Amino acid sequence: MNTPTSNALYTDLSRYYDLMCTDIDYAAQSHCISRFDQLFGNGGKRHLDLACGTGQHIRHLIDKGYQSQGLDLNQPMLELAQQRCPEASFSLQNICDFTVDTQLDLITCFLYSIHYSGNLENLKQCLQQVYLALHEGGLFCFNVVEKNLIRNDSFVRHSVHHEGSEFTFQSGWYYSGKGDTQALKLSVDRKTQDATHVWHDEHPMVAISFAELTALLEPQFDVHLFEHNYDTLQPWNGESGNALFVCVKRPLA
Ligand SMILES: C[S@@+](CC[C@H](N)C(=O)[O-])C[C@H]1O[C@@H](n2cnc3c(N)ncnc32)[C@H](O)[C@@H]1O
Repeated sequence: MNTPTSNALYTDLSRYYDLMCTDIDYAAQSHCISRFDQLFGNGGKRHLDLACGTGQHIRHLIDKGYQSQGLDLNQPMLELAQQRCPEASFSLQNICDFTVDTQLDLITCFLYSIHYSGNLENLKQCLQQVYLALHEGGLFCFNVVEKNLIRNDSFVRHSVHHEGSEFTFQSGWYYSGKGDTQALKLSVDRKTQDATHVWHDEHPMVAISFAELTALLEPQFDVHLFEHNYDTLQPWNGESGNALFVCVKRPLA
């Protein structure tokens, strides 16, 4: 397995990460996951967030009564997460080869971060570690993009004013149509009165179809697909290019 040990963008820009995410409703996403957990979970409260970033979901889930922990590949992100969630524990680990001390009831991975596994081989390893880390009946929730429905010309962009600077964040997926890797293209511009700083980043991300992913999960999990809408729990309509996967660990045969 060839897995990275850091990701420069999140190290360099960790202090701006929350600004980049001001349009994300972390409370609604966390609430949605707790509803999935009520519907499908085993009733336990031990929770792990993979690629937890600055700990925003963990904050909300602790406030809902979970005993949460987080892991991430980038230490500066973990330091911000620890400040936000002093009662949680955090570890510097890769989602592809992480281990836990005690089995968990809920594992989450938000903001398409499961794609950071990078390629199919590493993704399989990540899913195996999730399986080992969960109690029987435990829940694994994450969001994914379907490689065959990626629009290479589509991107998300937003600007924020902060401490005398204007930040513009832009991100978009690119898939060549072949293979098990796609790119997430990110750019951050910071304009001050005197200068403009620009960061560009392109991560290798695993590319997979929902059918392939379901086939990987099904030997070990009951798999439910939902529309990528955190306000209404609707089954995936078979056409949307992103979805929420809700997976229940099967009892051992
Ligand atoms: C888009 S951010 C998502 C953060 C958080 N889940 C959220 O929703 O705000 C991606 C995070 O994944 C982390 N990351 C990237 N590759 C990783 C890997 N292989 N293992 C663990 N964390 C990783 C980055 O450091 C970053 O914090």
